[in-house]
Amino acid sequence: MPHVAIVGATGAVGDLIRQLLSERNFPVDSIKFLASDRSAGKEVSFRGEKHRVQPIRAEAFDGVDIVLSSTPSSVSREFSPLAARAGATVVDNSSAWRMDPEVPLVVPEVNADALRSIPKRIVANPNCVAIPLTVVLKPLHELAGLKRVVVATYQSSSGKGAKGLLDFQNQLLAYASGRPVPPPQAHRGQLVGNVITLDWTLDPNGYTEEENKVINETRKILAMPELAVTVTCVRVPVRVSHSEAVNVEFARPISVEQARDVLAQAPGIVLMDERKGEVPQPIHAEGRDEVFVGRIRRDESVAHGLNLWLVADNLRKGAASNAVQIAERLLERA
Ligand SMILES: NC(=O)c1ccc[n+]([C@@H]2O[C@H](COP(=O)([O-])OP(=O)(O)OC[C@H]3O[C@@H](n4cnc5c(N)ncnc54)[C@H](OP(=O)(O)O)[C@@H]3O)[C@@H](O)[C@H]2O)c1
Repeated sequence: MPHVAIVGATGAVGDLIRQLLSERNFPVDSIKFLASDRSAGKEVSFRGEKHRVQPIRAEAFDGVDIVLSSTPSSVSREFSPLAARAGATVVDNSSAWRMDPEVPLVVPEVNADALRSIPKRIVANPNCVAIPLTVVLKPLHELAGLKRVVVATYQSSSGKGAKGLLDFQNQLLAYASGRPVPPPQAHRGQLVGNVITLDWTLDPNGYTEEENKVINETRKILAMPELAVTVTCVRVPVRVSHSEAVNVEFARPISVEQARDVLAQAPGIVLMDERKGEVPQPIHAEGRDEVFVGRIRRDESVAHGLNLWLVADNLRKGAASNAVQIAERLLERA
């Protein structure tokens, strides 16, 4: 059984990874919880036992087999190679390593075979929009060949971690009681009663950093470096779960019924039927590991096109569950 370290254990994703290891009966010989000096000494419980959070240091990785890391990218850039050098395999949630050609970027339902080669002993967990998107695109691609993908997102506050949620909650309390909404602390504007299209850094090409991540990572996960993809990312006043409006143009004919059949069989997907009054909503996806898909309809403006709507819990399938699923695959291969 592996010796495990959870890095960023006090954050929104790290906290959930701790819960998921128990939920999924992940085998553990020993476990340690690491975070910044600010959190050193805090108590967390795991399988009925109390553990003290330790400050992150290179020596902390001695004897560790699997690291599940969820820190800012700068911290991962410094510490993931140190953990790898100490002999651990790192599953990293930050964006630090995702586009490194020597680091597999993995969604187990889509490209688990990429785990065959891990030259840096680091595996990257993709962006929380790209994960559910590729879970849905992969079976559709096998059916009719992707030609172009256009996405608009409706992303929840928790995408900005524990600080985002606290910011949203403070704004919500003030708004609900008629007090002035406090200035944003984590989001880049007022989120309550509003939507924010620039909640991320703007890159030189006019896209946000988040939009560029979704484009580049979708291509890498699907191993389609030339795929035409364009994305608009938007933050909406929702606590948990990201929604995506997805328009797909295909190379070959595809009917709504064919798409429904293939998605109904695909792993990790819950297909909902609007004809029965079912439409995926963030409240359905919160706390679940599947991607919820619905509103599948023809795009009548092109020869072979579909529109669909998907929702997934950004903290679970978009981050923690996908990381734990990767770690489970690593154990199967060990
Ligand atoms: N939230 C999402 O939906 C989501 C989805 C996919 C990927 N991610 C990525 O996952 C990572 C974590 O996100 P999150 O939402 O969990 O963020 P978060 O709630 O802000 O948590 C960040 C964690 O990193 C730790 N940390 C910060 N600075 C550190 C340092 N200098 N040394 C050691 N530990 C440090 C924090 O420890 P302290 O508590 O001690 O500060 C905390 O445990 C980020 O890279 C994020 O982009 C997030």
